Amino acid sequence: MPIVLAVHGGAWNIPDAAVEAHREGVREALRAGWAALSEGGSALDAVEIAVRVLEEDPTFDAGVGSRLNRERKVELDASIMCGRELNAGAVAAVQRVRHPISLARKVMEETHHVMLCGQGASQFADEIGMKRCRTRDLLVGRELERYERVMAGDRRPVQEEFEKPAPMGTVGAIAMDGRGNLAAATSTGGIQDKMPGRVGDTPIPGSGTFADNKLGAASCTGHGEKIMRVVLAKAAVDRLAGDVHPSTAGMGALSTMRRVRGKGGLILLDRYGRVSARFNTPRMARGVADEAKGLRVGVDRGALRR
Ligand code: GLY
Repeated sequence: MPIVLAVHGGAWNIPDAAVEAHREGVREALRAGWAALSEGGSALDAVEIAVRVLEEDPTFDAGVGSRLNRERKVELDASIMCGRELNAGAVAAVQRVRHPISLARKVMEETHHVMLCGQGASQFADEIGMKRCRTRDLLVGRELERYERVMAGDRRPVQEEFEKPAPMGTVGAIAMDGRGNLAAATSTGGIQDKMPGRVGDTPIPGSGTFADNKLGAASCTGHGEKIMRVVLAKAAVDRLAGDVHPSTAGMGALSTMRRVRGKGGLILLDRYGRVSARFNTPRMARGVADEAKGLRVGVDRGALRR
């Protein structure tokens, strides 16, 4: 079985000045996840490790660098899925957790539930002894400044979220390991000006994240309110049936976003280790690592580069 890892750091109009930070961020995530995968680690370990690196990087809208909600709180969503048994774990609107993807994995492995949200997710983090952080540990100046602009009545950061150079960067990873197991993971701080308790596509299995050993794995990014309505990750994986190439399947799934006028993108992997990234935004930060070609990253359309 070929082993492969793909990651993304969000689909939006990444400004030129931020391109290098995005390329470097996805490269670092690939390096960390690939180190685990190439040493015989599981696909599940690889996607969790890669997403943790992206959550730590303030370039992206996940973990450190996340959006503030209307009450100046950081509420985080994340999910992880294992394709062997269709096992999934998720957290939604959880506060003061630096690595929500690891909390999502704990939900999957240590509870009989799939998703915990809000106060219940926080309580679970405490019960399992996960170290809590402060809101200010997750907050970066860029997001505070945007929050203050919106609260002062400037609606442009909200309206321009996906079209203009406005920071947006849900993160995710998909992988296949040497045993042919597939996994997917996605993490986000959500969208600008979100109401307290708002939950997007990211923690919803089938919408933001999906993995099934029989077909493939996907992780999505973009406007959650739109992605949820077309159940984008599952739609993309289902389109792999009949050994359709991920490039075709991904494009087909993304075209369903037209009906809801949704902006975003996805990374998609099939059970043969073929990978594709598709997006209908100007740019998408992404990268792939495999044995044949090593690590490649990109933000613009066209081939990835080392
Ligand atoms: N796709 C991330 C969100 O809408 O929250």
